[in-house]
Amino acid sequence: MFAVKVAVVAVLAIVCVSAETSCYADIANPNLYFATKTSYKFIKNTNIDEITLPGCEAVQMWLFSRHGTRYPRNDPEPGGEDFRQTADGNIQSREMELDALTQQMPILRDAVVQNHESGRGELCAEDVQNLRGWTIDIPPELEEKLAPAGEEEMHDIGDRYTARLPGLLDHSYKDGDYTFRFTTASRAEKSCHHFAKGVWGNSEEDTIVYPEPIENDPLIRFYKVCTKWANEVDNNTASRVEWQNFIDGPEVAATVAAVSNRLGFVVPLSYDQVSLTYTMCRYDKALYYGQLSPWCAAFSNSDLLVLEYVDDLLYYYKDGYGFEINWMQACNPVVDVANYFNSIVTGATNKPYGIFYFSHSGAMAKLLARWGLYNDTIVPTASNFAFQSGRQWSTSRMQNFGVNMVFVLFRCELNTYKVQLYVNERLTHLPGCAQDTCLFSEFAAIVKPIIETCDLDAICENPPAYF
Ligand SMILES: *[C@@H]1O[C@H](CO)[C@@H](O)[C@H](O)[C@H]1NC(C)=O
Ligand SMILES: *[C@@H]1O[C@H](CO)[C@@H](O)[C@H](O)[C@H]1NC(C)=O
Repeated sequence: MFAVKVAVVAVLAIVCVSAETSCYADIANPNLYFATKTSYKFIKNTNIDEITLPGCEAVQMWLFSRHGTRYPRNDPEPGGEDFRQTADGNIQSREMELDALTQQMPILRDAVVQNHESGRGELCAEDVQNLRGWTIDIPPELEEKLAPAGEEEMHDIGDRYTARLPGLLDHSYKDGDYTFRFTTASRAEKSCHHFAKGVWGNSEEDTIVYPEPIENDPLIRFYKVCTKWANEVDNNTASRVEWQNFIDGPEVAATVAAVSNRLGFVVPLSYDQVSLTYTMCRYDKALYYGQLSPWCAAFSNSDLLVLEYVDDLLYYYKDGYGFEINWMQACNPVVDVANYFNSIVTGATNKPYGIFYFSHSGAMAKLLARWGLYNDTIVPTASNFAFQSGRQWSTSRMQNFGVNMVFVLFRCELNTYKVQLYVNERLTHLPGCAQDTCLFSEFAAIVKPIIETCDLDAICENPPAYF
């Protein structure tokens, strides 16, 4: 009896060892670019050297930011990631994200552990052990709320910008010196508060009187008031054809098969189950960024690149260059920064020192595209993933949690002005400028045609308002 047991164990051990590839837990630098659910912790610039330009001083900064890491949502908005087309062409609502994670992932965890106990699957013992200890505990009231990790992200952005632009931020807080704006979403409001705590500290932040958020704010949430975009893009399955075709194509099929094998399923998982597993891995790594997520062990690096591209395709057509209306509608923030800078340059005022806006990934990507940033010559499609490795359009860096763009205005010798752009705290070349630092005349030439054509109601073909 004993001998038989030993023999069985030995056979199982051989099966396990031979099927085993490598341990996720042992990878020193795993890929943490997780598209729209990439933690800012893995994106941030740790350089806190003061930003200096010889002969110049920074006189104003203008920031536009996505909120930090939030908890999963349970309230699918029309269009985009929450909706998929069924075979008969209807749009079908996907399951609620938080509910799906909470209900399905523990079942999947037990099945994967069972698979490995039965000698199936390719996870190493340590990865299986980590999975055994994995739980999810996100109460429904936290749905979409800014998470503690998101609070830290925003706080640290404020903190680092204070070190880098002390002339603008290293002052005690005074009304009129700074302007804030956030959307009606609590995650945006909280992001603003934590950014301000990072700049001024908790007790001073307490004294700031913030403006009431505006429903469907045309400045920072313009896509909520854009009829043409709702009709042509957000609520139109045609805008999701490339995304859908890629999901139905060979690369995703290979990923689904590889993940199913790795997790030990004889009957392969569905794409939706693989996608949910990916979502669990990414939320784990955003919410608890310092810990390993055992779910990430389900994916090889090439699987992660495929799944990142799924999001990149969706948002290229929903928010990016895929449709003109996506970026055409993002002109109000351009007019806004231009007006602030002009008021300084013309000598009308020398304040505020900082303008800070907190919004959402949909606004951020459209705005980055309005500036012509990350505009590839090869349009990403369902069939050219093989040629996309060098693409600029990347939701992991354009729609990550906490993604932010900052324009800095400098006053230089002889009362001339210069402008720099920072994206995710890195100096970024603005298309239309000869160098990374723009002359004010170059900046003015870039914004001029955008300002001249910026009528949101006209661009969006909005019906006349009722009076
Ligand atoms: C989206 O399209 C459907 C069907 O064409 C329509 O019933 C619905 O009102 C539209 N929703 C929005 C937000 O435009
Ligand atoms: C994106 O690049 C193409 C050329 O590759 C250009 O024609 C187009 O105007 C650019 N779009 C924007 C919004 O800058």
